[in-house]
Formats: sequence, structure tokens, C-alpha cells
Amino acid sequence: MLKQLTLPLPDDFHIHLRQGSDLANYAKRAAEQFGRVLAMPNTEPPINSAETVKKYKEEILAAAPNLDVLLTFKLNKNYTEQELLAMQKNGVAAAKYYPFGVTTNSQDGVSKIEDIYPTISLLEKLDLVLSLHGEELDAYCLDREREFLKHLEKLCREFPKLRIVLEHVSTLEAVERIFDLPQNIVATITAHHLILTIDDVIGASLKPQNFCKPLPNSPQDRDAVRRAAFSGNRKFFFGTDSAPHPLEKKECLGGAAGIYSAPVAIPILIEEFEKENKLDLLPNFIAGFGADFYKVPRQTKTVAYIKEEWQVPKTIDGAVPLRAGEILKWQK
Ligand code: NCD
Ligand code: ZN
Repeated sequence: MLKQLTLPLPDDFHIHLRQGSDLANYAKRAAEQFGRVLAMPNTEPPINSAETVKKYKEEILAAAPNLDVLLTFKLNKNYTEQELLAMQKNGVAAAKYYPFGVTTNSQDGVSKIEDIYPTISLLEKLDLVLSLHGEELDAYCLDREREFLKHLEKLCREFPKLRIVLEHVSTLEAVERIFDLPQNIVATITAHHLILTIDDVIGASLKPQNFCKPLPNSPQDRDAVRRAAFSGNRKFFFGTDSAPHPLEKKECLGGAAGIYSAPVAIPILIEEFEKENKLDLLPNFIAGFGADFYKVPRQTKTVAYIKEEWQVPKTIDGAVPLRAGEILKWQK
């Protein structure tokens, strides 16, 4: 039986590191698991200028000096080419699109995606990535991603050279669409969408720690996400969407969406890939295809994991982590 596993030091191409006093804890915790991260911009105020990008990177590096940090900025208005170039120079790899009102801190999101086509056209010109939170606000909550796919298809037609990531893909229809669309259209997959369905949020009891956007969906949707992750297709790579909120912001009236998965995501992935007999595909999923897509060098450092059970703490950094209190099989 396999007892030890050496993997390339993982990348996380979608993480929320927050801001202020929380940032240091979350950044340090991320650096225990990942060599490189792509940090999301939905802080308050948002990351949306060369100055805020530069400052945010400095804050992250002050807490986690060895972390390789790539940044995103929020597409909440149109930008000039000069503004985009200045952000690119400061380490921005992607522009993040949040539809208005669909998730945490998206009150300043975009109501109509066509309104920001001028900026999207510049992204294509400058070879910046468009990172999509793909949900349609007015749709039924479990169909929001499916209803968004029409916008993805239109973007592909209008901007054929643009590199696009559909983040945290969660439905059968979206997975199938990604397989069919051209090579420059890819998707990230989280650890939680590989293991959760809507039953794990509201089935037997209400589990706020599993509440996130897009919602964990049906068993058929989860299984499609699993097939994509275990396909070995370079269009699917890892991004945790680790999105910690203090316990009291999750367990209250109007609890926040987001799952804190960074501390447990890699052990969970090892367990799931092992279950499917696909461990040989894990290195590319966590440290290959994403780097290739973002045009950054692949990781050369490695990290060893051992098969030794451990219990996930009930809280980490003041937040309830994914699979809190449960036993995981693998650890560093
Ligand atoms: C994220 C957050 O809390 O910032 N929440 C989530 O449920 N995934 C935002 C996001 O990526 O949607
Ligand atoms: Zn996210």
C-alpha cells in the first residue's frame, strides 16, 4: 500500500487572502501548502489599480515572503490601456469578472458584461487572462452557472484570442462546454466541488461551512466535475477558491458564502485521486496545466506527503475549515 507520495509544490490559481489583520494568517497558511498563488481582488476596497495591486502584493509578501504571488484586479469599470499595462507590470496576471450581487463583495460587480467589452478587448490585446465568476444572478440558484454559459460562448466568439478561465466549475453543462470550446478556454476546479453536493449544505442539516458560490450542485454535476479533474485534460486545473470568513460571519443571519479549504485541499485531492486510481494525473493538475496556461514556469520544488490519519481542527484561523472535525488520510 502506498505510504508516501512526492508531489511538485502545488500552485493555487484561485485563492482569497482577504485583508487587514486576517491577511497575515491566511497568507502564512497558504504558504504552508502552496508555492504560488493567484490572489483574488474582492477586498474592500477592491484591488483595481496599479497602486492597490502593488500594496496588496507587499502586504502578502510581508506575511509570506517565500510565496510566489500572482495578482488579479476587479473588473468593476472600464480601464485604459495605460492602467492595464501598469497593473500588468506590477504582477497582475488576470482580470476578475464578478457579476453584480452573486457572491461575497460583488455589490460593485458588473450588471451587463457587454458594458466592459472595451476593457475585455484590451485584455485580449495585452494577453491578460479573463477570470470569470460565471453565474447569472437572476437564475434559479442551482442553475446560475448553466445560465451563464451563453455569455461565455459570446465572449469566445467576440474575442477569439482571449485566454479565459471559468472559475470553480460546478456543473455538468459547464464541464461539457469547456471540453468543447477552443484550447484558450479553460476552467479551475476546487477540492470542495469534487466532494460536495447540495445535500452537504442543506440535506440533513444546515452546514454553513459548506455554503459557497457557486453552490455545490447535484450528484450528476459533482460527478462531471470529477470526470474533468481525473481526465488528464490540460483545460482543467486546480484553484482552491479558499474563501475564509470568521465563524460569526458564516453562522448568523445572512451568512457569507465561501469555504475555507486552503489548509486541507491538497490532502483531500490526494485522497480523491488515489480513490480513483489517478494519482499519476495529480502533478499536472496541481502544478502543471495551470502554470502552462498562465505562461509561468512550472514548479521545480517538491513536497513529500505521508499517509497518516489526522483530524481536521474545528476551527483554523478563526474560521471553520472544510471537513472540520473529520479524519483525513494524508498529511505533509
Ligand atoms: C468567495 C469569497 O468569499 O470571497 N466566496 C465564495 O463562495 N466562493 C467569492 C467567490 O469566489 O465567489
Ligand atoms: Zn473565489
